[in-house]
Amino acid sequence: MYVSDLALNDFRSYAELVLALEPGVSAFIGHNGQGKTNLVEALGYLSTFSSHRVASDAALVRSGAPAAVVRVKVVRGERPSLVELEIVAGRANRARLNRSPVPRTRDVLGVLRTVLFAPEDLELVKGDPQHRRRFLDDLLVLLTPRLAGVRAEYEKILRQRGALLKSAGTARFRGSRPDLSTLDVWDGHLADAGARLLAARAALVRDLRPHVARTYEEVSAGQGEARITYRSSLLGAEGREDEPGEAEEAELLDVAAVRERLVAAMATTRSKEIERGVSLVGPHRDDLVLRLGDLPTKGYASHGESWSYALALRLAAYEILREDAGPAGDGDPVLILDDVFAELDVRRRERLAGMVAGAQQVLITAAVPDDVPPALAGARFTVHQGEVTRG
Ligand SMILES: Nc1ncnc2c1ncn2[C@@H]1O[C@H](COP(=O)(O)OP(=O)(O)O)[C@@H](O)[C@H]1O
Ligand SMILES: [Mg+2]
Repeated sequence: MYVSDLALNDFRSYAELVLALEPGVSAFIGHNGQGKTNLVEALGYLSTFSSHRVASDAALVRSGAPAAVVRVKVVRGERPSLVELEIVAGRANRARLNRSPVPRTRDVLGVLRTVLFAPEDLELVKGDPQHRRRFLDDLLVLLTPRLAGVRAEYEKILRQRGALLKSAGTARFRGSRPDLSTLDVWDGHLADAGARLLAARAALVRDLRPHVARTYEEVSAGQGEARITYRSSLLGAEGREDEPGEAEEAELLDVAAVRERLVAAMATTRSKEIERGVSLVGPHRDDLVLRLGDLPTKGYASHGESWSYALALRLAAYEILREDAGPAGDGDPVLILDDVFAELDVRRRERLAGMVAGAQQVLITAAVPDDVPPALAGARFTVHQGEVTRG
């Protein structure tokens, strides 16, 4: 697929922008702070409903404006689709597909598929587990849009259960007996949604594993073997603390079995949970373990290796989306490389260029033209003070 038209109103620094795009490579060149990332961030947001830079939507709306609108025409096969998203800070977004409002905003997820690689992705390797969980969940939603509902429900359940645990803690502190029957009900809800999310993540990691091994090998020119596995908080709660591997991950594929295990684990940790006021078992406490050879990347990988790993994860995501054509035979996702060439050494830069040169649509941002490898010749745009001009 490719984006043929992008229009922004009050998104970040753009009061108004209308831009026509073509398949193949488009590079956006401009000094820092001119609006390059804002442009590609809009596309990333439309495809995942999350930004690679900020956790809250408020920063996406141009300061002083009540709402931002992102409009994108996506060409998939012969049929273009028009997706419009209105982002209102502090309120639910509203979406339209082909000019008609959709019942739920998340119904437009999956229409535009993007894979975005940016300097922030170093956090995938060096940062907290939340970054890696988000990597998995965003990809899951692109592959299976209905999982967006499960993810949202799970978050809601976590909040409710957290509130109950806290009030049970307060009751216990005051010496009264907390009402645990409601908590039992919420344990069931958490296990229902949690098991679905967890099993979907484990299956995704299993499917990604060979891709990551291959993309890492390509990016690093064969210098090291990358192996990813899923680590669930369930194992700790079950007293199985030793480093989990593929066998433990495979045990997570069965939704019904995982549900049972979650219920049992919550029963054993309940006292601790009431004490701490948080849910301690479930997909929100899990992690994606990254290894190079026999060593974990955390604490061992060099800066260059960490970059290669982050890139390998994104390229693997790209491959898996490309393999899964989607319900409408969507084809390649749109690949976005935000300011990454300047961060990579010459060899990694060239290998990346070689790997992505054939992609259906690649959008690149860079501060200077020289940062874009010659292999990625294509359309050039200049971004200057929020004006985007061809050439
Ligand atoms: N919500 C917003 N309202 C107005 N301006 C914004 C908003 N968010 C970011 N900006 C401005 O956008 C500019 C950064 O644009 P960005 O796309 O990140 O630049 P770059 O070209 O370096 O990628 C900054 O000048 C910043 O002040
Ligand atoms: Mg930028």
